Amino acid sequence: MPRKILVTSALPYANGSIHLGHLVEYIQTDIWARFQKMRGNTCFYCCADDTHGTPIMLRAEKEGITPEQLIDRTWHEHKRDFDGFHIDFDNYYSTNTPETRHYADTIYTRLKQAGLIEIRSIEQFYDPVKEMFLPDRFIKGECPKCHAKDQYGDNCEACGAAYQPTDLIEPYSAVSGAKPVRKESDHHFFKLSDPRCADFLKQWTADPAHVQAEAANKLGEWLQAGLSDWDISRDAPYFGFEIPGDDGKPTGKYYYVWLDAPIGYMGSFQNLCDKTGLDFNEFWKPDSDAELYHFIGKDILYFHALFWPAELAHAGFRTPTGVFCHGFLTVNGLKMSKSRGTFITAESYLNHLNPEWLRYYYAAKLNGSMEDIDLNLEDFAARVNSDLVGKYVNIASRCAGFISKRFSGKLGAVDMNATTEFSQAYADGAIANSYEERDFGRALREIMRLADVANQYIAERKPWEMAKQEGREAELLEVCSTAMTQFRDLTLYLKPVLPKLAEQVEAFLNIPPLTWTDIWTPLPAGHAINEYQHLMTRIDPKKIEIMVEENKQSLAPVPEVAAPAPIKHAEHQQSEAKAEAAASDEKSMWEPFISIDDFTKVDLRIARIANAEHVEGADKLLKLTLDLGGETRTVFAGIKAAYAPETLIGRLTVMVANLAPRKMKFGMSEGMVCAASDERGGPFLLSPDSGAQPGMRIK
Ligand code: 2FM
Ligand code: ZN
Repeated sequence: MPRKILVTSALPYANGSIHLGHLVEYIQTDIWARFQKMRGNTCFYCCADDTHGTPIMLRAEKEGITPEQLIDRTWHEHKRDFDGFHIDFDNYYSTNTPETRHYADTIYTRLKQAGLIEIRSIEQFYDPVKEMFLPDRFIKGECPKCHAKDQYGDNCEACGAAYQPTDLIEPYSAVSGAKPVRKESDHHFFKLSDPRCADFLKQWTADPAHVQAEAANKLGEWLQAGLSDWDISRDAPYFGFEIPGDDGKPTGKYYYVWLDAPIGYMGSFQNLCDKTGLDFNEFWKPDSDAELYHFIGKDILYFHALFWPAELAHAGFRTPTGVFCHGFLTVNGLKMSKSRGTFITAESYLNHLNPEWLRYYYAAKLNGSMEDIDLNLEDFAARVNSDLVGKYVNIASRCAGFISKRFSGKLGAVDMNATTEFSQAYADGAIANSYEERDFGRALREIMRLADVANQYIAERKPWEMAKQEGREAELLEVCSTAMTQFRDLTLYLKPVLPKLAEQVEAFLNIPPLTWTDIWTPLPAGHAINEYQHLMTRIDPKKIEIMVEENKQSLAPVPEVAAPAPIKHAEHQQSEAKAEAAASDEKSMWEPFISIDDFTKVDLRIARIANAEHVEGADKLLKLTLDLGGETRTVFAGIKAAYAPETLIGRLTVMVANLAPRKMKFGMSEGMVCAASDERGGPFLLSPDSGAQPGMRIK
């Protein structure tokens, strides 16, 4: 029985351009949806622009146009970019539509009937000149901790401190410059603290089918800490849907953009239903047998795995079958940056490079986890050139010419022994399962292994020699026909990733659109193929350089309203700011940079751990005796949780040798050892390559 699947990607904000970071998600979802369709499942891929909120309202005002004009223009830009990358939405819509309003009102009203909406008065900063309440990111002032000027209302970019806008010294409105005043206003809250929500979410998030294990851990922490009620309303002026009053009278309150954004998934699907006759309820009723999947970035997990299922469950709709969370994109190992030219828009990429190169590279890097993925531009060129041009396309280009020139384009019988591995891979489900689990990297490794098999077959049989020898026509035809079927099989497997190339191959091989089960039937003898046309060129690294150069921008002062916000992992409070930051991520996370002189002030040395022992009364510390090649030092290191002392004795590591000695409760610490850690684990002590000796300087 074919499955019924509705799949979504996060809705991009309607005030910024699509860039290579966004495309990790759209390409991932598109590959998955295309795979489902090729397998014969009924699958709809719906998305839309996320159009509401203060930043969009202010951006339009600044440009002297209406928000409707701004979102209309952006919609066309986004659609152009997505088409350029062959993102095959079944519907690409907008949240500023009657369908989304209808479901926002339905959900709000049902939550209210269930007693899950509460109205409370809260005090916020208000801009008396602009006559509007100010979101945190639109309030600036002096950091209460380090006293840096012009810091945002929620955290300081100079010292990293997080605080409330009311903590800022001499706050001012980033919109008008006026001194904000505190003002009370009624807000509508979704009562997530209600035990019905908390109990439901504890159970929902514990099901491994719903979220990946890494996501479940994070959600567990949030649930453990307790959920606060969620403020879902904003005061006028606001670009969004007005919340209906009990008596149908206007309330003057608007749904917060994050309330109606995911409801945009429903709006987009309803619009598709209206266009095609599909039944909305079949997909969204509580006992639906259809599957619903949301592909999202890890920064919006909170919204999709807590707020959203809680809303749906308590408003009489089905909940997601799965929320598929992915990591962020880095370019050359660093956060995308305008100054380095690595903040690359979809449009600029398409001006220089083939979209299927990026689709292939991203697919090769994606493994269904929440790890960040790196676009290393050198590796990108090398990988695409070697896999796609050197291995895959090479099969057709080496053999097709003989078929057209020597056999009038007509294929002969296939050597079935040489295609066994291809159908075996199908039977094992190795490739299909990898696609299904979103481990596209694993699928491509298997496909490239098969490409190696095909190339080896051709290399062993040497059709070019057969072509020169009398009486070997039959062999030549068999080898080339077999290679064509191998090439067809590889194309079939690659089609979710390379849909346009697959279309070109279908035209060249003169076959109908490939489906997943075609693998069982080789191209038949007597079948006429078309003349081979060049299918894919190699990436010229110079083109990448030119693109990067073009994307380099000087660090010009950023306009107040479009000011950038650092995008923090999993900080849902920052999401409104993210709308504002959409296309304007100026500063790199590595700034302020240090000079080489700053670096050389740190005297890093290789040290041998001569002894390591527990420290009585210390939970976290080990006492290390470090040999610097003559001199020994005592260092107390907070690594007890990760290392048993006896395993450390004798190994080499890295220490800061010129750190001022520090008197600790357990004795004097005369330096520091270096270790790596983050939320993925650690501490991991550093080790030098073999040959390094105690006392050597690291520079
Ligand atoms: O974070 C963002 O870019 C949001 N515009 C995503 C919205 S996804 C969904 F909820 F609509
Ligand atoms: Zn500060």
